[in-house]
Order: sequence, then structure tokens, then C-alpha cells
Amino acid sequence: MVKVRKAVIPAAGLGTRLLPSTKAMPKEMLPIIDKPTIQYIIEEAVESGIKDIIIVTGKGKKAIEDHFDTSMLLEETLKNKGKITILNEMQNISQLANIHYIRQGVPKGLGHAIWCARNFIGNEPFAVLLGDTLIKEKKPCLKEMIRLFEECNSSIIGVKRVNESDVSKYGIVDVKQGNGPLFNIHNLVEKPKIEDAPSDLAIFGRYVLTPKIFDLLAKQERGVGNEIQLTDALQTMLKYESVYAQIFEGESYDIGEKLGYLKTIIEFAIEREDLKEDLVQFMKNIVSKKT
Ligand code: UTP
Repeated sequence: MVKVRKAVIPAAGLGTRLLPSTKAMPKEMLPIIDKPTIQYIIEEAVESGIKDIIIVTGKGKKAIEDHFDTSMLLEETLKNKGKITILNEMQNISQLANIHYIRQGVPKGLGHAIWCARNFIGNEPFAVLLGDTLIKEKKPCLKEMIRLFEECNSSIIGVKRVNESDVSKYGIVDVKQGNGPLFNIHNLVEKPKIEDAPSDLAIFGRYVLTPKIFDLLAKQERGVGNEIQLTDALQTMLKYESVYAQIFEGESYDIGEKLGYLKTIIEFAIEREDLKEDLVQFMKNIVSKKT
């Protein structure tokens, strides 16, 4: 059985939908209350059994490396002040996983970002977790995808059903009825127009892929948005290997767009015992005043 041991987190995009906040601050570092987005994603990878992670970064993304590094000054100060709980929390961040970095000189698209990680991954399967997408499920969905990959040894893409009006925001897959939880993909389209969408099954940002994808990305031409698209390379992959979809019922949150970011913060805050009660009261008051 081939084990999935490594993951790529692409985080080199420009985050133009959230400008100006992302001009000097990586969108992957935007806080969901008191924890940056990318830390949730690293934690999800670790809970799914991954120990070696490569983050694809670029210009202006240094804060990501600093966040997962040891901070002697901060740790010394917290120790001297007796703030031991938060000190332990800070120390745990730098020990979460073996984190490596590679730069994508020019953000040419998600497909190109993944291709930048090819030497680190080598000839083995790997997971991809988009750096701006959070998932909320009881059991990490990536863990289940890895388990299934290790059974079938074929690439698996996480998908979920979306409203018809949203299909043009995502990569969309068309599937044949499958066996058990996996569906055989026979078509993928990046950000189709509503009338061209082959289904309502959207790729939300979690993949387990075979290394064959690197050969295809090396030759992949630019697609939608003049970017090298992972979805296009996966469409080509269908000529050589089976690719499966796993449909998830849980919530995914795209923090890379304004409303998505707001919804994420509210949902995550409402689940926290220290914030829930006051936040719900505050929201009730606002709603009654504004409607
Ligand atoms: P997005 O397409 O959502 O990110 O990519 P973006 O390009 O930064 O967003 P906008 O459209 O300008 O607002 C999904 C993930 O892939 C990474 C992003 O950092 C994000 O985490 N990405 C995207 C790269 O690493 N490199 C790229 O060239 C593009």
C-alpha cells in the first residue's frame, strides 16, 4: 500500500479580492478570531496523518514563515510574565509539523503553484489543501480521502454540491455513478458559465493526487483567468488514470472573498464557549435595529 505522507499548501496568490487588506499581509494569515487561517489548515493536515508539509509562498508572504517559526523573544517575555498557558500554545505552533517552503516567483495560477512543489514531493502521492479554504466536519475530510486513496491508489478530489448561481466560482466535475463513497469523474471544467456547467459538484480545495500530475502541469497551458489551472491538468489526467470524486456534506469556507471571510469568523465564533453568548446577543440586537 502506498502511503500519503506529504502535503502541499499553495499560499502564493495575490489575494486581489481582499485588497487593500492583502497588500502587505498574506490572505492565508487573516485571523479567524485569534488564529490565522493557515494554522487551521496545518492542523487539519496533521489530524489527517500528514507530517511533512510544503507551503508555496511568494513575495510579501514572510509572515507565514515567521508564524510557524520559534520566537525566542516572545517566549522569554511570556515566561517572565508567568503566562504559561499561552507560552505552551506558542511553543506548540512551531512543533506542529515539519514545514518546508518554496517560492513561486510569479503567481501564474494554482496549477503552477503545485508544480513548484514537485522536487519536495518526488514520486509519491500527496495531499493538497488550499491555503484560503477552511473545512468544518466532525472528522477531517482529508483523513477520509487519504484512507480511500490508500485503498484505490487513484487521485481523489473533494467536492460538494453548490447552488446553480455559484457554479462559475469553482472547478466543476461531472461524475458517473460510482462504487461506495467514490464517484468516477469523466469531465472537469474550471469556472464554467452556468449554462456550460456539467453538474453542481464543486471542487472546494482538498485533493489527494498521484505524482503523474507534475508531468501534466509541466506542459499545461494557461486557462481561465490566464492562469495555469490545476483543474485543466486533472482533465488531461483522465486520459491516463482514473480520477475519483468524494462528495462531502460538511461546510467549507472560502476566506478569500469578503462575504466568505465574514461568514467564517461568525461561524467559528459561535462555536466558542467564550464568545457565543455575547455574539448571539449582539447579532440579535443588530438585526432588530437594521430590519
Ligand atoms: P485563489 O485563486 O483563490 O487565490 O487560489 P488568489 O489568486 O490569491 O485570489 P484572488 O482571486 O486574487 O483574490 C487558491 C489558493 O491558491 C493559492 C492562493 O494563495 C490560495 O491559497 N495560489 C493561487 C497560489 O499559491 N499561486 C497562484 O498563482 C494562485
